Amino acid sequence: MRFDIITVVPELLESPLSHSIMQRAKDRGLLEVYVHDLREFGIGKHRQVDDYQFGGGAGMVMKPEPLAGCIESLLQKRSYDAVIYTTPDGQRLEQGICNHLSLKNNILIICGHYKGIDDRIRQKYVTMEISIGDYVLSGGELAAAVLVDAIGRLIPGVLNDETSALFDSFQDDLLAPPVYTRPANWEGMEVPEILLSGHEKNIGEWRYEQSVERTRQRRPDIWEKHQKT
Ligand code: ADE
Repeated sequence: MRFDIITVVPELLESPLSHSIMQRAKDRGLLEVYVHDLREFGIGKHRQVDDYQFGGGAGMVMKPEPLAGCIESLLQKRSYDAVIYTTPDGQRLEQGICNHLSLKNNILIICGHYKGIDDRIRQKYVTMEISIGDYVLSGGELAAAVLVDAIGRLIPGVLNDETSALFDSFQDDLLAPPVYTRPANWEGMEVPEILLSGHEKNIGEWRYEQSVERTRQRRPDIWEKHQKT
């Protein structure tokens, strides 16, 4: 799977996608991430990428020409299954969207900065607008990194234990159960007896009950959704 990401701050995307599971996915040839510096398509001597907003108001807006130039140069080489703009006014990211996108081959992500991008770019090129939560980041880069990570880890072969993504929180509209490791007694706090029993079926049932309890207490909205399915 290939991601192309357009940004004015390429450095913000380097580290989050170059370690741990994402780096391993790249090493295995399962994931490719290409970060494109929008400034290379900037206008004039100063490689301008932003400008004042029409109608007044604080904050700069990303100009359409550099974005269009960069997008068109990428479109010449391949077509994209999704052109995503990361923005707080987009559709809120959830596991179902990640599952859906993990089946695609080529995804282009446009990171907004400043006040955002000229709306005509959204109208002309963008097929999906995604927010990673109801708060405002200083740019779309961290949201893009979240997207690549959440989607990339679902690509078959990326996770070592192929089944482990199946038991993630949200995967079946339930939060994940609590987990423990050695020592079995830490500062007088015992690991639940059942997890030491070796009885797979009972452990499975216990985990399910814990998931249900956690979901009911912490996320009644998800619990309601789970009951309907
Ligand atoms: N850019 C700024 N804030 C954002 C958010 N919450 N989600 C996605 N992109 C953003």
